[in-house]
Amino acid sequence: MTVQRKFYAPGRVNLIGEYTDFNGGLVFPCAINRGTSLQVTEDRSIDGIALSSDDFDFTTTVVCSSEAKPVGREWVNYPLGVMVEFAKLGFNPSAFRFNYSGDLPLSAGLSSSASVSVVTAVALNELTGANLSAQELALLSQRSENTFINVQCGIMDQFVIAMAQSDCAIALDCATLEYQQIPLNLKEYRIVIGNTNQPRNLKGSAYNDRVNECQAALKTLAPVTHAKQLADVTPDQFYEHSNLLTDAIVRKRAQHVVEECDRVNRATVALKAGRLEEFGRMMLQSHVSLRDLFEVSSDTLDCMVDLAMNTDGVIGSRMTGAGFGGCTVSLVHQESVDHFIESVGSKYESQMKLKADFYVTTAMNGASEVLN
Ligand code: GLA
Repeated sequence: MTVQRKFYAPGRVNLIGEYTDFNGGLVFPCAINRGTSLQVTEDRSIDGIALSSDDFDFTTTVVCSSEAKPVGREWVNYPLGVMVEFAKLGFNPSAFRFNYSGDLPLSAGLSSSASVSVVTAVALNELTGANLSAQELALLSQRSENTFINVQCGIMDQFVIAMAQSDCAIALDCATLEYQQIPLNLKEYRIVIGNTNQPRNLKGSAYNDRVNECQAALKTLAPVTHAKQLADVTPDQFYEHSNLLTDAIVRKRAQHVVEECDRVNRATVALKAGRLEEFGRMMLQSHVSLRDLFEVSSDTLDCMVDLAMNTDGVIGSRMTGAGFGGCTVSLVHQESVDHFIESVGSKYESQMKLKADFYVTTAMNGASEVLN
């Protein structure tokens, strides 16, 4: 009998703490109710692993080797990069078909690529008996994206996708990987994700440019603050020494990171204390900072956030993920959700000439094998 196994990894939405992860700061994401399924079928006739997807026409068979090279700019590079990392650890699985399918919008800021990477890592971990922990699988998937895809992303996406618990968001310190699963008690509010349907491309240089600008800020501020990472700089230290940052762009990037880290701290305290309106206000402040200081928002994201904030029952709204298009996340009163989707959707379409999609989500579990 042919052996078939199924694995699943969710996508994620980041509630607050954007562009803080690679600066050693705090993030506060949760897993969502959309994700990637991976069907694994044993096939002794295959030398390597045959990769296919319901969403892309391109298929290929790859050999799991540490020497493997990217295949153009194809989607298979996400699973292939993870296989390379397993190969480096001495695991070279072969004779399988991997078929991917999912309901995460692509290039939309909900981590469809990290979801593919992590589901692959979870599957390879089971198939090879590598026995890595969920945290190790997250780190391995991040390494693959850094080295194979060449995006210098932080650990947020892979970590939450691998580690999430239902009904919780993860307050993660990206410097130490210490984390808390914080119950997401949103009372009568719902998480509504708005997809601008303006696709973005993280492989573009803009993300890596931000990484470099943050490193430049740290280089200047470290000697006077003793900070090891930009997130170590306190707001007071920043205001005292910001004149040393003579490049205005670098100064704005640093101000965002420093203030956003402080906001995540205050936002998680507010949430734990049940002060949801305060949490919501900080989501909007985060958006404004990403728009004006970090400059990763877009007309479509700004339009959707403005429309959301002018709709009854909304206590907070912001862009989520890397930005440059993609999705917003809003906290909407449960009785206003239908009206929100209808009203924001139609005004957005008339202003931006694009049709938006909306997903209402709760916080879900992280990646695992699907056992029947
Ligand atoms: C992308 C990256 C993450 C993080 C966010 C911005 O999702 O993969 O590591 O940097 O952007 O917060």
